[in-house]
Amino acid sequence: WPALAPTVHAINELKKERNAVILAHNYMTPEIYHGIADIVGDSLQLAKEATRADADVIVQCGVHFMAETSKILNPDKTVLIPDMNAGCSLAESITAADVRGLREKYPGVPIVTYVNTSADVKAECDICCTSSNAVQVVESLGAPRVLLIPDQFLAANVARQTDVEVLTWAGACEVHERFTAEELREYRDIEPGVKIIAHPECPPEVVEEADFAGSTAGMIDWVKVNRPEKVMLVTECSMADNIASETPGVDYVRPCNLCPHMKRITLSKVLDALVEMKDEVIVDPEISARARVAVERMINLKS
Ligand code: 13P
Ligand code: SF4
Repeated sequence: WPALAPTVHAINELKKERNAVILAHNYMTPEIYHGIADIVGDSLQLAKEATRADADVIVQCGVHFMAETSKILNPDKTVLIPDMNAGCSLAESITAADVRGLREKYPGVPIVTYVNTSADVKAECDICCTSSNAVQVVESLGAPRVLLIPDQFLAANVARQTDVEVLTWAGACEVHERFTAEELREYRDIEPGVKIIAHPECPPEVVEEADFAGSTAGMIDWVKVNRPEKVMLVTECSMADNIASETPGVDYVRPCNLCPHMKRITLSKVLDALVEMKDEVIVDPEISARARVAVERMINLKS
């Protein structure tokens, strides 16, 4: 930490000079999460905060679809991402042409897009969702059959919680698809009493083995409220690092899996982004306006 202090200080000073706000996802490393972020949260919280951002510049510490979502909601603000190559295996699994193909194949079936998609894909869909509101969004449509794309595992986990028939796409998160139910059972054997909480991007048999499943913010809240003696967060590694200091007395059992895309965002790249005002996220205005309808429909749902 002491070695990082000058960079943290420089970023916080430059933030004021540029009238910038830093929105950081829960998977950012602790020096970003605790040192420079103005707002931290899951995808839904970050999208909602983006609508309230009272700054000229938004620096998105997260992956590209998150920065695009901020831009869609703030077409007149400058949105920067510290590494343009911070992608997502889910966002890369489907294109706008694929969604048009699904419309033809399933006429009349509403299409819900997970927020982990490009603006092009969102523009073709009826409504957006995140891991924290997917069941609510699917049920809000009042349809017997809904397409929930592109995460096959999120869709399978949602299908278990609703009477709506949920069709999906073959995408998966490269971080969460690697966890297995067998692995979780082995941890229960060697760590008696461990509470296991999982992200709904994990395969359904993994979620079934867990004591709780929820979005990254849902997982954090669960640990803060329940204060288990021992907990395993079946998700990206930085989650435990970030909340350990806020939950003394809780023992974090790892494993975890790193998201190589999230880990592209580093403190020094955030500093460069603010010094050079790069990389700016641009979304075609026509695509952006259509994508915005899907994102705002989600944001405006009563919780
Ligand atoms: P959350 O919306 O739960 O933060 O999930 C985002 C994500 O990319 C998880 O892999
Ligand atoms: Fe995408 Fe998975 Fe990384 Fe989240 S953790 S950004 S879903 S690859």
